[in-house]
Amino acid sequence: MAYSRISDANEITERYMDSFLIKERLIDSVVADTEIELFGTKFSSPVMMPAFSHLKEFGGRKLTGLEEYSIAAKNMNILNFVGMMENDMYKRIADTGAKTVRIVKPYADNIKVRDQMKYAEDEGAFGIGMDIDHIFGNEGLDVVVGELMTVQTSEMIRSYIESTKLPFFVKGVLSEEEAVKCADLGAKAIIVSHHHGRLPYAVPPLMVLPSIKKALQGRDVKIIVDCGISSGADVYKCLALGADAAAVGRAMLPSLEEGGIEGMEKFITKVNNELRFIMSCTGFETVSQIDDSCIVKT
Ligand SMILES: Cc1cc2nc3c(=O)[nH]c(=O)nc-3n(C[C@H](O)[C@H](O)[C@H](O)COP(=O)(O)O)c2cc1C
Repeated sequence: MAYSRISDANEITERYMDSFLIKERLIDSVVADTEIELFGTKFSSPVMMPAFSHLKEFGGRKLTGLEEYSIAAKNMNILNFVGMMENDMYKRIADTGAKTVRIVKPYADNIKVRDQMKYAEDEGAFGIGMDIDHIFGNEGLDVVVGELMTVQTSEMIRSYIESTKLPFFVKGVLSEEEAVKCADLGAKAIIVSHHHGRLPYAVPPLMVLPSIKKALQGRDVKIIVDCGISSGADVYKCLALGADAAAVGRAMLPSLEEGGIEGMEKFITKVNNELRFIMSCTGFETVSQIDDSCIVKT
């Protein structure tokens, strides 16, 4: 076989995802229920929207892609995420009524960080958080759309967490040590992610997930996975390896662009239906029962 190097973390992640196969367990199985509970709220599915930003109006439609997927999240009662944006855009997201987690960037302007977090809380956000995997760029600290990012210390993160009544989500955790640090700082959820391959040779989230799960045993921290999630089978594998939920990513973009709110609803329904089918075929009636007993690593 020809030797070829793959430095693209997205491709490495996809290959790792596909290296898990699923066993059946049918006798005594029932039609599964995909409902989950997160921080006292019931959601119809462990499938979540991604923390996207900068999506414009597609196809000359009135609403931005961000609002369209948020409305789909509301209609389907799944958890919504949004990323980098100013408060006026966040207001439009809040007005959709979706249960939303606002992921604030690690801006060098710390007043802006705190202002955006407080604004989200005042506007009824479900949670707030930060994508700590977007601090550095190739030339040092990253500049995102003209905005300088900066290093986030434990004290800074602790103070964001202490400043809010909302659950705090740390996005971009990819090691056991960092997961434990998040728990120690008081985070209520982590998103195991490499932010669509920002880090060359980033470990696939699923490869590090079981040891993160083990490291967080007995700690009150929810685990969400993203990167390369495009089907119910992908979501199932995340749940089987220790996640509480999984967020779709760029795989949803064609459905959003072409079909708007309805396109998104169809996409999420397809992913969730496939998840329910696999849960039913593997003998798991509820999401919380899912473990790794029916997946096989090739
Ligand atoms: C257009 C676009 C904008 C994004 N903006 C943000 C953002 O502002 N904050 C953030 O935490 N992640 C952001 N992400 C990353 C996603 O939340 C997610 O981690 C990533 O897309 C998952 O990988 P996948 O697309 O391969 O599934 C963005 C991704 C895309 C494609």
